[in-house]
Amino acid sequence: MNLIKKMLAAQAAVLALWAVSAQAATNDDIAERIKPVGEVCVMGEECKGIEAVAASAGGGARTPDDIIAKHCGACHSAGVLGAPKIGDAAAWKERADHQGGLDGILAKAITGINSMPPKGTCADCSDDELKATIKKMSGL
Ligand code: HEC
Repeated sequence: MNLIKKMLAAQAAVLALWAVSAQAATNDDIAERIKPVGEVCVMGEECKGIEAVAASAGGGARTPDDIIAKHCGACHSAGVLGAPKIGDAAAWKERADHQGGLDGILAKAITGINSMPPKGTCADCSDDELKATIKKMSGL
């Protein structure tokens, strides 16, 4: 008798666990279904995704030239601190070959390397913006 009770209790526990996990999945499904289709951006607050919207709208987005002028050019124009110079295709290619291509040097640009600050001081640059900027500077 005691054994049967224990077995029943074990089964009840399994059932309860199953119910909890089924519930969790349902909550995820609901969260997915009711997630907002858009976001309201308040001035002065960080607003992710706004750059993508601005870029697709075609207005006001930064070009690689803007980013170079504002950030990267300070070091990469004259080759300050050993930075590869803008347009020095050989120097960039050598780095890219060393780091596994454009994406490799992009990764270094994001994290920073030696005297190269993370994201080249453009903290709010997206990875895509950095990539386009590196392409422009390197000719890769
Ligand atoms: C404060 C100076 C400075 C600024 C500003 C700067 N860089 Fe650099 N960058 C460097 C230096 C120095 C190196 C070479 C680092 C080394 O290999 O020792 C470098 C290297 C790089 C590399 C090659 C990384 C590698 O793996 O060899 C990339 C890519 C790069 N910079 C991208 C950028 C971009 C994009 C910007 C602007 C958003 C930028 N940098 C702004 C100094 C700068």
